[in-house]
Amino acid sequence: MSQHVLLRYRDVRADLRSLDNYVADGGYRTARRAVHEMKPEEVLQTVKDSNLRGRGGAGFPTGLKWSFLAKGTGKPTYLLCNADESEPGTFKDRDLMDHDPHQLLEGMIISAFAIGCHTAYIYIRGEFAFGADVLNKAIADCYAKGYLGQSVFGSAYSLDIHVHRGAGAYICGEETGLIESLEGKRANPRIKPPFPAVYGVFGCPTIVNNVETLACVRHIVERGAAWFKGIGPESGPGPKLYCVSGHVKRPGTYELPMGTPLMDLIFEHCGGMLPGRKLKAVIPGGSSVPILKADECDIAMDFDSVVKAGSMLGSAGIIVMDDSTDMVAALRRIAHFYHHESCGQCTPCREGTGWLEKLLIRLDEGLASEGDIATLDSVAKGMLGTTICVLSDAAAMPVRSFLQKFPEEFLAAATGRSRVVAADATAAA
Ligand SMILES: Cc1cc2nc3c(=O)[nH]c(=O)nc-3n(C[C@H](O)[C@H](O)[C@H](O)COP(=O)(O)O)c2cc1C
Ligand code: SF4
Repeated sequence: MSQHVLLRYRDVRADLRSLDNYVADGGYRTARRAVHEMKPEEVLQTVKDSNLRGRGGAGFPTGLKWSFLAKGTGKPTYLLCNADESEPGTFKDRDLMDHDPHQLLEGMIISAFAIGCHTAYIYIRGEFAFGADVLNKAIADCYAKGYLGQSVFGSAYSLDIHVHRGAGAYICGEETGLIESLEGKRANPRIKPPFPAVYGVFGCPTIVNNVETLACVRHIVERGAAWFKGIGPESGPGPKLYCVSGHVKRPGTYELPMGTPLMDLIFEHCGGMLPGRKLKAVIPGGSSVPILKADECDIAMDFDSVVKAGSMLGSAGIIVMDDSTDMVAALRRIAHFYHHESCGQCTPCREGTGWLEKLLIRLDEGLASEGDIATLDSVAKGMLGTTICVLSDAAAMPVRSFLQKFPEEFLAAATGRSRVVAADATAAA
C-alpha cells in the first residue's frame, strides 16, 4: 500500500522518469480526461474547492490566484512554474523534478488548461542541471506521443512547455524577479501592483506557481477536492513535503499530512537528535522566517498553526539546531546569505543587509559593544515592510527573532564573556 502521493516514486519499483512507466502507473489519465471531458471553469472550481494553498512560501490560495487573471485583454495568458528553489533549508522541488518529472508536467497541463494558457515555462534554478535534463527529456517524450503540442491528447487544446534555466540568484525565485529574468533582464523584482495576474511576463496575464503546488493539482483533479480537503486542516490541507535538515539523525524530504506535529517530524520520522544532543531551536519554514525555541516547538506544521506560534510555514524547510549551536555564528551565516542575494534596488535592503552582516561579524569576532545589539535590532526593524519585495523582511525577521529568543548569547558575544553553547557535538557523540 502506497504511503506517498507526491513522492510516489519512492513506492513504485519502476523509474517514473520513463513516460511508459509513468503511464503504466496511471499517469496522464487525469490530464487526458481534463482536456477531453472537463471545462476549464470546472477544473478551476475543483482547485478552488480543494483549498489548495501555494507551496512556494506565502501560502496564497491557488484557485483564488487563478481567478484574478485579467480577462478579455486580447493577450495570451502564461503559466510559469517556479522551480528556482533557493531558500536555504529547502530541497523538495528538486526531489519532485529529479525523480518524477511527468507528475509536474501533468499538473502543468491541467493547470494551463484551467487558466486558458497555451505557453508555459518551467523556470529552474541554474544549479539544477540534472533536473533540467530530466525535464527536457520528459517534455520531448510528451511531444513525441502528442501529449504536448498542437493537439494535446488529440483534443482541440494546444500547449507548449519550455524549460528555462536560471543563473543562480536567490532573487530569481521572487515571482516578478523571475519574470524579469525570463524576459532576459536582470532579476530586479517589480513594484506591485500590478500583480502578474494582470501584467506579468511580456506584459501579459501570468500565473506563477511553485513546483509542489502544480504537482498537487494532478491529484486534486484526479481524486477530487473533498479528498484533498480531508488531509490536515481544512483551511490549508493536503499532502505536504517537509524538508528537514540540521542536527537530526535522518535529515531528508518527508511527505506527511499538512499539520503533522513538528515534534513527531523531528523525533519519529527523522529519528530524533544526534546522539547525546538536545533540541535547542528550529527554523520552521526556510531561513527567512522567525526561529522557535525548543519549548515553542510543540506545534502543528500547517500555515495557520505556525503563524499562531509566531513564525511561518514558508517553504517548509525545517532547520533543526541542537545545543551545540552558537546562535551568533548561525545568524551571521544567515545574514551573509541575504547580503549576498539582495538585488540592491531598495535602500533599506541594500544597505540594511550589509549592516546586519557587518554588525554580526563584529559580534561573532568579539569586536562589538553592547550598543551594537540595539543597533542591530534597529537596523532590522527599519527593513520591515519598506521595500519592493520581501527579501528585506526575510533578512530582518531572523535577526529580530534570534535577538529576542537568545539575548544572553548576543550579550555574551558583546561583552567578551564565554558563549553559552554546549561542547562540540562530535565530542559528545
Ligand atoms: C526572495 C524570494 C525568493 C523566492 N523564492 C521562491 C522559490 O525559489 N520558489 C518558489 O516557488 N517561490 C519562491 N518565492 C515565492 C514566489 O514569489 C511566489 O510567491 C511563488 O512562486 C508562488 O507560488 P505558489 O502560489 O504556488 O506558492 C520567493 C519569494 C521571495 C520574496
Ligand atoms: S527588497 Fe531587496 S531584493 Fe527585494 S527588490 Fe528591494 S533590494 Fe531587491
